[in-house]
This record gives sequence, C-alpha cells and structure tokens, in this order.
Amino acid sequence: MSIESASATAATPAHPSAAVPGPIIATRRLGKVYGSGKLKVEALREISFDVDPGEFVAIVGPSGSGKSTLFYVLGGLTSATSGSLFIQGQDFSKLSDAQRTRLRRSHIAFVFQRFNLLPTISARANVELAHEIAATGKPFDNQMFEHLCELLKIQGRLNHRPSELSGGEQQRVAIARALITRPAILLADEPTGNLDSQNSEAVLSMLHSSSREMNQTVLMITHNSEAAQIADRILHIRDGQILKIEPGSRRICRER
Ligand SMILES: Nc1ncnc2c1ncn2[C@@H]1O[C@H](COP(=O)(O)OP(=O)(O)OP(=O)(O)O)[C@@H](O)[C@H]1O
Ligand SMILES: [Mg+2]
Repeated sequence: MSIESASATAATPAHPSAAVPGPIIATRRLGKVYGSGKLKVEALREISFDVDPGEFVAIVGPSGSGKSTLFYVLGGLTSATSGSLFIQGQDFSKLSDAQRTRLRRSHIAFVFQRFNLLPTISARANVELAHEIAATGKPFDNQMFEHLCELLKIQGRLNHRPSELSGGEQQRVAIARALITRPAILLADEPTGNLDSQNSEAVLSMLHSSSREMNQTVLMITHNSEAAQIADRILHIRDGQILKIEPGSRRICRER
C-alpha cells in the first residue's frame, strides 16, 4: 500500500506547494563562513541551484565538504553569511524571525544526521509532538502513523525512549517524525546512515513514494553514491562548492 492511499485523508490534493509557480527552493551564491581569523572555515562557497516542487535531489560529497552546513542553511536553522535563499519565492533573509519560524514549521521537516529526538519522551510522543509543532490544523493522522511505523518496522518500539533504541531504530523514528507532518520540503541528512541494507531500501522507497505521491520536495544528503541514484538529480559538493549536477537513475540501486 502506498503512503498516500494509507492515509485517512487520502483525498488531500498534492501538496499546496504544487500550486506555486517556479522553484520551491532557489539559492544564489550562498556562502557560509564559520569562525574568523585563523579559525575561519569557508564551509559553503557560491552555491547556486534551483529545486522544483516535487523534485528529489540527492546531495553527495566527502566528509567535511559542507553537506550538513547546506542542510542547516536551507532549513533556516542557521543563516548564510552571503548570497540569497528563496523558499517558495520568499527571500529568507527578508523575513522576520517569527515569519521564518512559521514558514519553517509549516513547510519544512528535518531528519537530522544525529536524529535529535527528544530524550525524555517516548518514540510515539516524539512523532506526536512534531505534528503538534507543525500546527497544520489537521488532526493527527493515525492511519498514516500506523502505516509509517509498519513500513519502518518500529511498531514494537514506540513506547520506548530514544536511549532505549538502537541507532537505526532512532533514525527510523526520526523519519516517521518528519513524514507525519506531510511537509512540502523534506530535508534529510544521511537518513540511511545507520541502517542495514534492508531497512535502507525501505526508507529510500518511502522517501521516493512520498516525493512522487504527495509532490513532496526531498533533499537527501548521503555519502552513499548508490543511495543517491534514487534521486531525480544528484548534486556533488566538494570543499563547499558545487562540483557538478547530474541526473539520477530514479531507482533504488542495491548496495554492493
Ligand atoms: N559550528 C562549526 N564551527 C566551525 N566549523 C564548522 C562548524 N560546523 C562545521 N564546520 C566545518 O565546516 C566544514 C563543513 O562541515 P559539514 O558538517 O557541513 O560537513 P559534511 O559534509 O556534513 O561532513 P560529514 O559527511 O562528515 O557529515 C567542515 O570543515 C567542518 O569542520
Ligand atoms: Mg554532515
């Protein structure tokens, strides 16, 4: 069963982002510098690219190349030092803090490289809280939740706190937490980094179908060039710069 057909609100049209013309994400010469003087690190340099609504983009590059920094900047979790970022045509730097937060909460969901689950509450409560914070105005979709848990194989772990879960289980809870809000944009930093090949395939196919069926825009960071093949386009980053952008094969390639 697909993600969309599993949902109680299956009649929901494609994400409203589909109605907005032009790219859902646009960056122009984005730069990010950490520190100063001898400690200065140019983590991003002149990053310019557009992402269309519903597009699946993989971002690959070696460790330290700036992938997570780009993730934080695109999600408005840290600001760029130079250049511009447009989300649904809105210049992020021209929004007030409150407007930026509102746009982020209602449109963007994150799967963090280090999961960032709240440690004091259960896996289930982590997912429920994400839905509350997104303030979509829609009731919690239990059918969608159960379907996500089944696909991610976390049904039996929902009443446990993150510290009682394995790294891979925490990662899968973090993915359920991100998808439950049906975000226009999903930013995922190494979402298969802690998973064995079977779970990794399940997660990749889930991201693929939510991008296709709900017109969700997915940006997935990965160091795994085979996982990246699922994307429409693959953006290669080296030393904070775009090295090249190439088409993906749009299918799941098995890890060798
Ligand atoms: N808060 C920070 N302060 C100073 N330098 C930082 C900070 N965060 C990241 N960096 C540096 O910026 C560069 C890019 O880091 P980033 O975390 O974006 O890399 P990455 O591509 O995500 O690497 P990985 O694959 O290991 O996760 C690195 O040289 C890193 O040391
Ligand atoms: Mg990283």
